[in-house]
Amino acid sequence: MNKHTAWQRLEQLSREQASAHLRDLLQAPNRFEQFSFRQDELLLDLSRQRLTTETLQQLLQLAEHSELEAWIAALFKGDPVNHTENRAALHTALRLPAEATLLLDGEDLVPQVQADLQRMHDLVDQLHQGQWRGFSGEAIDTLVNVGVGGSDLGPMMVCRALEGFQPAEARHITTHFISSMDGSQISGLLDQLDPARTLFVVSSKSFSTADTLANAATALDWLNRASGLPTELLTKRHFIAVTANATRAEAWGIPAVNQLHFRDWVGGRYSLWSTIGLAIAVRIGMSGFRALLAGAHAMDRHFRQAPFAANLPVLLALTEVWNINFLDIHAHAILPYDGRLAHLPAYLEQLEMESNGKSVDRQGQPIAHHTCPVLWGEIGPNAQHAFYQLLHQGSEAVMCDFIVPARRYSDQGDALQSQHRLTIANCLAQARVLALGDAAVDQSNATPWQRYQGNQPSTLILLDELTPKSLGALIALYEHKVFVQSVIWDINPFDQWGVELGKQVANSLLDAIGAPVHSGQFDAATEGILDQLHRQLNAEDDTQC
Ligand code: F6P
Repeated sequence: MNKHTAWQRLEQLSREQASAHLRDLLQAPNRFEQFSFRQDELLLDLSRQRLTTETLQQLLQLAEHSELEAWIAALFKGDPVNHTENRAALHTALRLPAEATLLLDGEDLVPQVQADLQRMHDLVDQLHQGQWRGFSGEAIDTLVNVGVGGSDLGPMMVCRALEGFQPAEARHITTHFISSMDGSQISGLLDQLDPARTLFVVSSKSFSTADTLANAATALDWLNRASGLPTELLTKRHFIAVTANATRAEAWGIPAVNQLHFRDWVGGRYSLWSTIGLAIAVRIGMSGFRALLAGAHAMDRHFRQAPFAANLPVLLALTEVWNINFLDIHAHAILPYDGRLAHLPAYLEQLEMESNGKSVDRQGQPIAHHTCPVLWGEIGPNAQHAFYQLLHQGSEAVMCDFIVPARRYSDQGDALQSQHRLTIANCLAQARVLALGDAAVDQSNATPWQRYQGNQPSTLILLDELTPKSLGALIALYEHKVFVQSVIWDINPFDQWGVELGKQVANSLLDAIGAPVHSGQFDAATEGILDQLHRQLNAEDDTQC
């Protein structure tokens, strides 16, 4: 057998099982034992997926014949798996223990990573101990992370998720995240901050992202106007750069002593484990940050070592490949039943869609099948009152991920614990109704509008508890799932050429905003709207005169 025949066999299976309904599959008494898999504090329940033992066996064959084992080895070894940019994707090196060794081009990366972490540690200590002082000599008590995409979503998601793990020494520091290019976040926030006690962390791998540089310039202007002090002093006291491009950060005005670095073999959307995680470390302390890394590292080891039939990232990836490529499901909802994971859907939107939203394979050939589905999400209980109508009765097949901790509020009283039980009950109820449809209860008298078809597949991820360690493992599970899918689809998940053209075109349009339009400059639609803008912006200017 080869990959092609494994794929064909799966196509045939999907035809044979076209009429299979989860209602029937869930009749099997050992269904849960057969399709749920545990790794440390994380349980992956695939029992509500439209899988049979035969399908799973065949999917595992597909993985074997896609040379997944060799690809996993190449990823961890530091081979240039990101071939279009000729570099490694070594986010896993950021989570290696200090005593490990990893050679890349003859150089051991681990001491570099540990040195970067140590610089971050020193900075975190300074902030926690009130030793970093602003222009008036007062201690910094407000940190504003200025970044976008991977330089924002990961740190923001983790900070929110682990708020409860803040050590006493971190409690006097508040953390904010600014990302939007249009200035609406920063303009609203600055009014509430004290410039003398605010530190801006400009997080940007490239240090050339227009959104981030525009927000950083507004922050500097605000400090200039508030203090009347020269820029050099302000950048020294009130700015830190976290970047892989020290030269650009320095050219912007942030001196080398105020810079934390990471390497270009860390992809932006895989960078929360690097010094980009500064805001996380300030929020939960370095020991919390190291526990997050340890959780991810435990998942890395599992991914490298576990047989595919018991390997959580592999099983999750293959299940979704089955849904996408053989059951024709192209929408994926992420539904955490825990408000602390509010930003997880946005984080996964970037991780999955920026990584695998591709339609050209590694050889540059068009791909004949579907790749990454459209992914979105919301805190599950809130989404129940918003878009679940479509999940239950709409015309689209959607696969769902339910994520919920088993234990919460252990020492915070009965009222909150009963809220948690209510939440779990709702999570299980939704998974059950999506799978079984009407069959979940007696619906014999239901009108057509009250009927539920069911058969919507879902995955349930049960964490023992949400902790830095279990969150690290959960994120790494998704990272590796994305990698496995990229191998099956034969695409490079580590580049993002699809976001470049828009940036270039925006640059070419900037000078045209508000200027008279010359015909033939752009397309008809763009010229039409530029003309409207020219009239409106100039009418505004006239009024101001
Ligand atoms: O434009 C997309 C992107 O390059 C993402 O991949 C990245 O996470 C984000 O922009 C921010 O990039 P940077 O960290 O270089 O500012």
